[in-house]
Amino acid sequence: MTTTKKLSVIGTGYVGLVYAVCMAELGHDVVAIDIDAEKIAKLGAGISTIYEPGLDDLLRKHLCSGRLRFTTAYEVAAADFVFLAVSTPSTPEGAADLRHVRAAVQQIGENTRGAHPIIVNKSTAPVGTSDTLDYLLARQNGVGGHEFEIVANPEFLREGSAVQDFFHPDRIVLGANDPAAAHAVAELYAPLEAEIVFTDPKTAEMIKYASNAFLATKISFINEIASICEGVGADIGDVARAMGMDPRIGSRFLNPGLGFGGSCLPKDVRALNYLGAVHGAHPQLLNAVLQINADQRRRVIRILRDSLGSLESRVITLLGLAFKPGTDDIRDAPAVDLARLLMNEGAIVHAYDPFAMRSFSALFPQVEMFEDAYAAAGHADALVVATEWEEFATLDLERLHKIMQTPLIADCRNVLERARVLDAGFACFGVGTGIAGLGAVQRRTTRRVRTVPATNQTGVAAS
Ligand code: UDX
Repeated sequence: MTTTKKLSVIGTGYVGLVYAVCMAELGHDVVAIDIDAEKIAKLGAGISTIYEPGLDDLLRKHLCSGRLRFTTAYEVAAADFVFLAVSTPSTPEGAADLRHVRAAVQQIGENTRGAHPIIVNKSTAPVGTSDTLDYLLARQNGVGGHEFEIVANPEFLREGSAVQDFFHPDRIVLGANDPAAAHAVAELYAPLEAEIVFTDPKTAEMIKYASNAFLATKISFINEIASICEGVGADIGDVARAMGMDPRIGSRFLNPGLGFGGSCLPKDVRALNYLGAVHGAHPQLLNAVLQINADQRRRVIRILRDSLGSLESRVITLLGLAFKPGTDDIRDAPAVDLARLLMNEGAIVHAYDPFAMRSFSALFPQVEMFEDAYAAAGHADALVVATEWEEFATLDLERLHKIMQTPLIADCRNVLERARVLDAGFACFGVGTGIAGLGAVQRRTTRRVRTVPATNQTGVAAS
C-alpha cells in the first residue's frame, strides 16, 4: 500500500521525466518542474520529449488521473519531497558542472517559504555534493547551519529500459545523515519491494560513480582483449562467451564494439577521474579506460583509410547513429566521433538510423540522411555499422554489393555473420576478428559517378 506523498521533481530531462511519471504510477502526487517552457507545454499535452518504451502511456495515464502536472513555476512549498534531477554536464576539464544544481538550489531556497521538504538528490554529482547542497540552502535562507534534510539517491536507469528498470531496480541506494529522512524516502518506494542500501551521503554518491566506472572498465577491458585477439587470431566471440560463464566475471557488458557512449558512462568516468586526481589519487585505470574508449573510434578510421588508400572524397555510410539501440540519444555516441573524424579526413558521410537522424542532422547538417540502409549505402565506399539495431543483422548483402561503389563493411558491433559477409564478396572488418577479404576492395578499381540524392523537407534523402 502506498501512502500518497506530494513530490516536486526539478528537471524533466531523462531521469527527472522518468521519475516523475513512474512516481505518479506508484501513487504519489507529482509536479514536474522545468525552466524550458516549450518542453513543459509538450509534456503537459501528453507528448513525451524522449523516446522510451512504456513512458508515453504512463505519461498520458497520469495527466488524466490528475496525479501528474508539469509547470515552469517553482512549486516546492507544498511538497513533502523535492527531487533534484537536473543535468551535470562535463566541464572542459572533465569535472561535473554543478551550475544547474546551484541554480535549482537557489530556486528551492527562494520558493519553499518556510517549509522544509526533504531534498532528494538524483543528479549525478561529485562526492560531497550533499554537503554542498546543505551549505547552499542554509546560506540562501540566512541560517547559520543545517536546515533541510538531504538524501542522496543515485539512479541506475538504463536508456531504452528506464521504465522497466524503475519498477524492477537491482537496488535502491539512500545516503543521508539523518536515518529518519532516508527511511521517509524509502517509504516512497515501498511498492517496489526492492533491496535498499542505507548509507551516508558521500558513500551513496560514490556508489553511483564506482558502478558506472566499473561497467565502463568492463567494456574497455573486452575492447582491449578484442584488439589482442585480432593480432593473435583468437575468436573474441568465444573468448567473451566463455569468460562470461564464470559467475565471478558475468556475461553482461562483454560485447566489444566502438566503446561506451551515452549521457552517463563517459561523463561519469571523466568526473571520477577528475575527482580522484584533485583528491591526490592517481586514477591510472580510469585514464586507461577513457583512452581505450577514444582509440576504439579512431582505429576504425585507420582501418578504413588503410583499406581504401585515402578517405578523401570517399563516401562512407554510417549505419546507426544512436549511442545504443532502443534510443534516439546521440550524446557521446560513437557515430558522432566517427562522423567528425571521417569528415576531417575529407570523407563524405551518409547515414541512416531508425530513430536518431533528426538530432544527428541538427549536429551535422552536412551529413546526408537516408530513409533506409539501402538508400544510404548507394555508391558508398564503405558501410560502417555503428549501432547494433536488429534490422542491420538481416541486411540483404547481395543487394548491398550491387549498389555500393566499393564492397567494404566495417561491422563495428559484430552484428553480421562474418562468413555471410565474406561469401557475398565483401571485405569485412569485425571488432576482435580484424579485416578479411581485402582482395575484393582492391579488385574494384573503377569509380562510378556519385549521384547526389534529392533531400525532402525532413532532411532525409529519398531513395
Ligand atoms: C548507463 C548505466 O548502465 C546505468 O546504470 C546508468 O544509470 C546510466 O548509464 P545507459 O547510458 O543507458 O546506462 O547505457 P548502457 O546500456 O549502460 O550502455 C552504455 C554504453 O556502453 C553504450 O554505448 C553501449 O553500446 C556500450 N556497451 C554496453 C558496449 O559497448 N558493450 C557492452 O557490452 C555493453
